[in-house]
Amino acid sequence: MLHNDKLEQWDRENFFHPSTHLAEFARGNIPHRVITGASGCHIEDRDGNKMLDAFAGLYCVNVGYGRPEIAEAIATQAKELAYYHSYVGHGTEASITLAKMVMDRAPDHMSKVYFGLSGSDANETNIKLIWYYNNILGRPEKKKIISRWRGYHGSGLMTGSLTGLDLFHKKFDLPLAQVMHTQAPDFFRRADLGQSESEFVADCVAKLEEMIHREGADTIAAFIGEPLLGTGGIVPPPKGYWPAIQAVLDKHDILLIADEVVTGFGRLGTMFGSDHYGMRPDLITIAKGLTSAYAPLSGSIVSDKMWTVLEQGTDENGPIGHGWTYSAHPIGAAAGVANLALIDTLGLVENAGSVGAYLNAQMRAALADHPHVGDVRGEGMICAVELVADKDSRTFFDASDKVGPQIVAKMLEQSSVIARAMPQGDILGFAPPFCLTRAEVDQVVAATQRAVTTVLG
Ligand SMILES: Cc1ncc(COP(=O)(O)O)c(C=O)c1O
Repeated sequence: MLHNDKLEQWDRENFFHPSTHLAEFARGNIPHRVITGASGCHIEDRDGNKMLDAFAGLYCVNVGYGRPEIAEAIATQAKELAYYHSYVGHGTEASITLAKMVMDRAPDHMSKVYFGLSGSDANETNIKLIWYYNNILGRPEKKKIISRWRGYHGSGLMTGSLTGLDLFHKKFDLPLAQVMHTQAPDFFRRADLGQSESEFVADCVAKLEEMIHREGADTIAAFIGEPLLGTGGIVPPPKGYWPAIQAVLDKHDILLIADEVVTGFGRLGTMFGSDHYGMRPDLITIAKGLTSAYAPLSGSIVSDKMWTVLEQGTDENGPIGHGWTYSAHPIGAAAGVANLALIDTLGLVENAGSVGAYLNAQMRAALADHPHVGDVRGEGMICAVELVADKDSRTFFDASDKVGPQIVAKMLEQSSVIARAMPQGDILGFAPPFCLTRAEVDQVVAATQRAVTTVLG
């Protein structure tokens, strides 16, 4: 272990941390945290504190920490062939095997997978492919992308635009002009509390139809959505939402991107969220669960329908003008192969479904009746608790009270359990590794109940 008493000073002086209040960190008002090791569902810091990570890093360490099978696959790959590119038809045993494994698991109507490094770059790839597709089809005006408020699709220029959270736009001159946002499928936060779930779905559909009508279907290329809203608050879609949206998209020849960066490879207890909710995507974005974050790797899975046009495009225009130096990096690919094999061997998708159902049921039983808990929701191994100032009128706390962050800090302090204060709203997020046990669920639920009671009474 590194024991350097200058580490904190070096950290505050040199390290630009993502998604961090830069000034407060520099001033020392945000704790400096150094994580040194991890195993199963626990991480450990350099002071020897052991914590139960109920958010699996950033909902990505799906198989849990410290898996020797993946570490060894990475080491072996690094020794044999740390790098070769994948341009002009090159590949490695790892990247080709992983492509086969991904396509074996993808819905039947999908054709090929392109590998990138992050969820953000995979979504950038998706938008480029969609624009290329419509140009090849002779529809140069059909380029706009519809996303949803509260959606999260990354923080690049295009992907930050697709993301429907203010913080990712403010002062960055985003969103870009080609991106539009429609209503978030967040039933709990509906504007009209008198609406039933089915009325709310009809309202989401009507708002989408209005947007398409206003802009003209011939200007709209695609719709992007996470099967279940993640960073925007961990919100499963209202019943019937996806089939109703899919019908509108089909009617207007608008492509669907299912952003499965969080839901891909098992988080909902099914291999993909698209299967789970009856979506029929033209592109699927994958990242986190592809390698369980043991190495950076993402992917864009392309449907048969789009692939045919992409091939036609290269016949007409030459090789596809898209690629990264690190596309299909062999170390990431080796991690992916070992990770997907481990998920199968250990039955982790099934575990995410069954232990996840227990997590959701226990959380609901322990917290739903609390006077400041407005909603407990989830699906598979993902769950959220949303806090409110007043339950009957569904009045939210003032954001400046930082109720969510306070509770999350209290959980860590009292019980050494890590949850995530979701960035927009007082929402406690849980997305543990799939290997979580029922005893660990009990610990997470007890920690949440205790911290909510301490902070809110
Ligand atoms: C649904 C979704 N899409 C895209 C991304 C962006 O992925 P990355 O942070 O790897 O760029 C995320 C990250 O949390 C995500 O949750």
